[in-house]
Amino acid sequence: MDKLLIRGGCPLHGEIRISGSKNSALPILAASLLSAEPIQLNNLPHLHDITTMLDLLGCLGAELTVGEKLTTQIDAANVNSFTAPYDLVKTMRASILVMGPLLSRFGEAQVAFPGGCAIGSRPVDIHLRGFEAMGADIVIEDGYINARAPVGGLRGATIFMETVTVGGTENLLMAAVLAKGETVLENAAREPEIVDLANCLVAMGARIEGIGSDTLRISGVDALHACDYTVMPDRIETGTYLAAAAATGGAIKLKQTDPRTLDAVLVKLEECGSDITTGDDWIELDSKGRRQRAVSVRTAPYPGFPTDMQAQFMALNTTAIGTAQVIETIFENRLIQTHEMNRMGAQISIEGNTALVNGVERLTGAPVMASDLRASASLVIAGLMAEGETVVDRIYHIDRGYECIEEKLQCLGANIRRISD
Ligand code: EPZ
Repeated sequence: MDKLLIRGGCPLHGEIRISGSKNSALPILAASLLSAEPIQLNNLPHLHDITTMLDLLGCLGAELTVGEKLTTQIDAANVNSFTAPYDLVKTMRASILVMGPLLSRFGEAQVAFPGGCAIGSRPVDIHLRGFEAMGADIVIEDGYINARAPVGGLRGATIFMETVTVGGTENLLMAAVLAKGETVLENAAREPEIVDLANCLVAMGARIEGIGSDTLRISGVDALHACDYTVMPDRIETGTYLAAAAATGGAIKLKQTDPRTLDAVLVKLEECGSDITTGDDWIELDSKGRRQRAVSVRTAPYPGFPTDMQAQFMALNTTAIGTAQVIETIFENRLIQTHEMNRMGAQISIEGNTALVNGVERLTGAPVMASDLRASASLVIAGLMAEGETVVDRIYHIDRGYECIEEKLQCLGANIRRISD
């Protein structure tokens, strides 16, 4: 099993390119099932989760052609299976996103019931209730969700989602584009990845109003057509490198990104004491080589502070001046990185969903264990800040969401390398 060996203490300096967004690419790949004509996708990140989604599309009968730079064409004309098997769903919960497209275009879907994961229980009840409101019959049996559309296909409906859910909004949006009549999704998530998915669906011929708002109005069409679409830059990858640069007292420029999707994060980095400059598709951060000030964060659905950046800001706060409160409101078990950080000399205590981070002068390197994607990224940041050597174990979590993380960090001057047992 691979590990990352980090010798900390080098401030990050330099320029790197940001990859395409994982959390945007996954639903967009699922959306390719909605059309019998080929969908060409550009800027897909080279990540394990993307490969898993491509495997799933292939196992449903889609034909995949991977071109240069991972430009991928998906031709779902001959899809002949409607089952997302447990083996794939257990390695990637986002497999549930094929349910809306399969149900909408083919009238049936069987998807292994995704279990909880390290960060929380993560139910899918809102997805399922939405499909039922559109007329689907849902039966849960032998660990599978079996869904069948009524004769004549899914029907438009007004659906109020009681919790703001990214995946739920995406799944119901994809189901609605081919449903009969109008669907209104109320209390919809507004994450940039949903905007990206909606823009791709519109490029395929879908009719969607209210994109970027919490009410999406979708008028179902009979069929979607071919399109060529470029996935947005990864805002969480962007935020992770910015946090790492601030935490190590560095100065970096990130290219091929989109500062407009990162307001809540950039404001907090400025509050820490870093200077931020942005252009259309780049962001520069200069920490002035200073120890940063502690900054409290409370996670919330977009445009609030993203839960996917919480752990990285906890790392930044471990050596900041002062005390920060880090409050996680989205997932019940997402402060899991705390104990590993304390083993590196951090002073963090937890009460309920709140971590109190008392900034210390320095962390010290230690062997640590990654437990989920963003927690792993935060341990890498802690390792970059720490004196001495840190070995981050179980980095398969990181490879699910960060393209070439060690190469990119090396470009920024970090002393990091991948080692195998
Ligand atoms: C997406 O997960 C992201 N994953 C997550 O990123 C991200 O942390 C999360 O949104 C929140 O921003 C992908 O896009 C592939 P949710 P998702 O449905 O869609 C509750 C990462 O590190 N809920 O918005 O699964 C749920 O339990 C990952 O890249 C229900 O109660 O998250 C949670 O408390 C991890 N019932 C809240 O809603 C439901 O039916 C938000 O979850 C669905 C969700």
